[in-house]
Amino acid sequence: MGTDKADILALLRNSKDYVSGQQLCDRFGVSRTAVWKVINQLKEEGYQIESVTRKGYRLVECPEIFSEWEITSRLTTAWAGQKICYYEETGSTNIDAKRLAEEGALHGTTVVADKQSQGRGRRGRSWQSPSGSAVYMSIALKPDFAPDKASMLTLVMALSVVETITELTGLEAAIKWPNDIIVHGKKVCGILTEMSAEPDYIHYVVIGVGINVNNQTQDFEDEVRQIATSLKIEAGKTISRAAMVERVLFYFEKNYDTFVRKLDLSELQEVYQKYLINLNAEVKVLDPKGEYTGIARGINATGELLVEKEDGTIETVYAGEVSVRGLYGYV
Ligand code: BTN
Repeated sequence: MGTDKADILALLRNSKDYVSGQQLCDRFGVSRTAVWKVINQLKEEGYQIESVTRKGYRLVECPEIFSEWEITSRLTTAWAGQKICYYEETGSTNIDAKRLAEEGALHGTTVVADKQSQGRGRRGRSWQSPSGSAVYMSIALKPDFAPDKASMLTLVMALSVVETITELTGLEAAIKWPNDIIVHGKKVCGILTEMSAEPDYIHYVVIGVGINVNNQTQDFEDEVRQIATSLKIEAGKTISRAAMVERVLFYFEKNYDTFVRKLDLSELQEVYQKYLINLNAEVKVLDPKGEYTGIARGINATGELLVEKEDGTIETVYAGEVSVRGLYGYV
């Protein structure tokens, strides 16, 4: 029954005209009653479906519904998000994805939530996660490569998110190496990558993504309002969160498969750099061994940031060890 619902929804969404009950029966090999039941379920979930005698069904309006079906009915991926676990509320999708990975979940299993009660950010910070406006998603991966390659996956995800935002909103989005996505100088997305590994073997990697999609300014608590924004605030329109999840999975699968071919970022470097906010700009590197400033010259094939110091020497900055800031504030 589950697959039928996503399939019927996909067919209705992709048809400009009416789809007859018979077409749906033939296409999915189910009975008229089964089709009718699915249509009724969809109506109950808020979809406006027009039924006209002798013509069939037509999806009149696709409101901002965020649900497992709304996501799965859009998916075109081979492995990313082939299993979606959707929760209206959960503690943290990263914790859920880690639990599922430990229980043997398939590579690409994705947890999505409308609300998190214990959303987690990097460096032990919390991630405000109200309902109804943002995307909270975590993908569980079972990579077949050495643990020292895993930090590059954060960059692969950052690229995928920035490509998604560009496609769906037309906004000029940029990557603040390595974890944040910026629009008009403010943060719209953060990424938290966690791994369970032995010295030479990865059990799993979980990449958690929080995207401020339809949040209003007043949704942000005081301490983040200065540095955070949402796609809706910047683009002036509501964006489908289900479409965001689908596109992130689509681009991530494509970029991950490219990354895995060489196990480095050499084939993604050029496009990544196009989106790098600090490229050729002055940055301050907050190295625990001593701060310094320099010009960011892009990333190398293993994802480190190259910073040219005043004396012309190039420092290689490893993600996770240090923070990089623009000279004038957060970006
Ligand atoms: C950051 O500090 O910038 C990273 C924020 C990551 C937030 C996302 S929301 C989905 C996933 N679940 C979590 O608890 N955190 C990540």
